[in-house]
Amino acid sequence: MDIEAVEASYSRWAPIYDRTFGAITQRARRRAVACVCREGREVLEVGVGTGLALPLYKPGVSVTGIDFSEPMLEKARRRVAELRLGHVKALLRMDARALEFADESFDTVAAMHVLSVVPEPERVMREIARVLKPGGRLVILNHFARERGPLARVEKAAAPLSDLLGWHSDFRIETVLGEPALRVERRTSLPPMGMMTLLEMRKVAG
Ligand SMILES: C[S@@+](CC[C@H](N)C(=O)[O-])C[C@H]1O[C@@H](n2cnc3c(N)ncnc32)[C@H](O)[C@@H]1O
Repeated sequence: MDIEAVEASYSRWAPIYDRTFGAITQRARRRAVACVCREGREVLEVGVGTGLALPLYKPGVSVTGIDFSEPMLEKARRRVAELRLGHVKALLRMDARALEFADESFDTVAAMHVLSVVPEPERVMREIARVLKPGGRLVILNHFARERGPLARVEKAAAPLSDLLGWHSDFRIETVLGEPALRVERRTSLPPMGMMTLLEMRKVAG
């Protein structure tokens, strides 16, 4: 999926996202945000989408959200205004492959349901590592492809439909494990039906 396909797909998703994919993944999103809030103040949410996670952050956390899709961001901006979410510092249109932030700007980065969507996920992982402070954390929430079984076959069969779906159904966890500056600390299965994985990673100091 290239960036034009991402834009087209999320223009279609924006009006229905919160009632569909957004709704069935909200329990896992809640767990991921609780995990983000455990440490650090300055948070970057990469691929913030319609901002479903934004009301879930605890007081004292300052959140910057970025996304490439203007219709998704517009929903997020409306949510922030309607709910008066003062902890949201900024919502910016930006490509996660080229983050417009200085090195070592954030204590924590959250990437929820986004790494299987972006073109060049390895490049995004590199950018995330760059903007994290040494010792900072990356919290990933994503569905990763199964290795075997009937669902693995379904995921493989759906792979050519990524432009239509808006994500890569056969996205493998290895894709996000190759960044040398980021070390996995914990891996947890989450709802629905254990399909989502919460991956906590830390930027190695120095
Ligand atoms: C499935 S949605 C997830 C939204 C939100 N994180 C959530 O949990 O509901 C994926 C989001 O990633 C965004 N996205 C895809 N590629 C991107 C890129 N290169 N840079 C920034 N955002 C991107 C899409 O626009 C979309 O809003």
